[in-house]
Amino acid sequence: MLKIEHLSASYKTIDGNVHVVNDVHFDILDNEIFGIAGESGCGKTTLLKALYDIIEFPLELDAGRVVLSGEKNGEPFEFCSGEIRKSWWNHISYVPQAAQSVLNPITRLKSQFLDSIPKQGRGSGMERGSALKETPAQTLDRVANYLKELELSPDILDAFPFQLSGGMRQRVIIALATFMSPSVMLADEPTTALDVVVQRGILMMLTRLQKRLRNTMVLVSHDMGVHYQITNRMGIMYSGSFVELGDTELIFNDPLHPYTRMLIGALPRVGDKGQKQGIPGRPPSLKAPPPGCRFAPRCPQARDMCTQAAPPLEEIRPGRFAACHLIRPEV
Ligand SMILES: Nc1ncnc2c1ncn2[C@@H]1O[C@H](COP(=O)(O)OP(=O)(O)O)[C@@H](O)[C@H]1O
Ligand SMILES: [Mg+2]
Repeated sequence: MLKIEHLSASYKTIDGNVHVVNDVHFDILDNEIFGIAGESGCGKTTLLKALYDIIEFPLELDAGRVVLSGEKNGEPFEFCSGEIRKSWWNHISYVPQAAQSVLNPITRLKSQFLDSIPKQGRGSGMERGSALKETPAQTLDRVANYLKELELSPDILDAFPFQLSGGMRQRVIIALATFMSPSVMLADEPTTALDVVVQRGILMMLTRLQKRLRNTMVLVSHDMGVHYQITNRMGIMYSGSFVELGDTELIFNDPLHPYTRMLIGALPRVGDKGQKQGIPGRPPSLKAPPPGCRFAPRCPQARDMCTQAAPPLEEIRPGRFAACHLIRPEV
């Protein structure tokens, strides 16, 4: 569905280029929830922007490309970096980090729906059985029905964003992003800054939507608990590249990379006594990354060779990848 081919991206700053995505290469499949994990500052948001093709100053693509392809309503499609914009809403949609701020505070939600849904989606006959030349009122009818399907009250269309709770605003944003049944939906930290109960509700909504649309969801979160709950496969990012990638359940049962073990070890567990230790240290600055394996300065197992060469992401077992000198491929 999404092929990410040796992608590198950097921010141009007055102090030089900050390489934030380094030769990232992987596939995201049809009909799966793919998670991207890692502490803040690892480049998750930047990678997602590259997937959605928001390459705007100071961000630039240095190498590689993203290919979005598949079939929708029996029609095959294919878009590469630079063209993916043409497929926004219809084939791919995006819920940005801190999405709450994308809602205009002084406009009622119904106007925001009408402004966001591209004209061709309104009554080209392609979407949700709509008739040709749909009026705004007809579009709003379809929006209201869609909200009901998602168990949201259509009354919210008359509300201003500030009249809704944070969780409700996030649901509305997800509804907006999925209204046109995109084949891929990208969501950046959709549950961060919400309390645990509300988080649960949002995660359930995302899982249900994915089942219903049978599409691909890419979920970025620094919270490993979120990945455990809803993703099928996941990639763990550290300092601009993946250090581990594979089936979520297998990763949690038997993490390969020392960084993954650290993240999982920091999760609270039922029956834990006392305070959990946080993860020691911080990710390196992307302006001046350490030589060799970028995790080596924090790695309890690091040897001399780790600071000399960067380990490539290798298939260790079928479908399970890791980038670590100390892990020998078994396949
Ligand atoms: N607009 C920008 N200009 C320069 N550097 C940036 C900019 N945005 C992000 N960065 C750099 O990219 C790094 C990764 O950012 P980001 O992709 O937001 O990571 P994450 O989502 O994992 O927290 C930041 O630590 C920072 O060094
Ligand atoms: Mg981010």
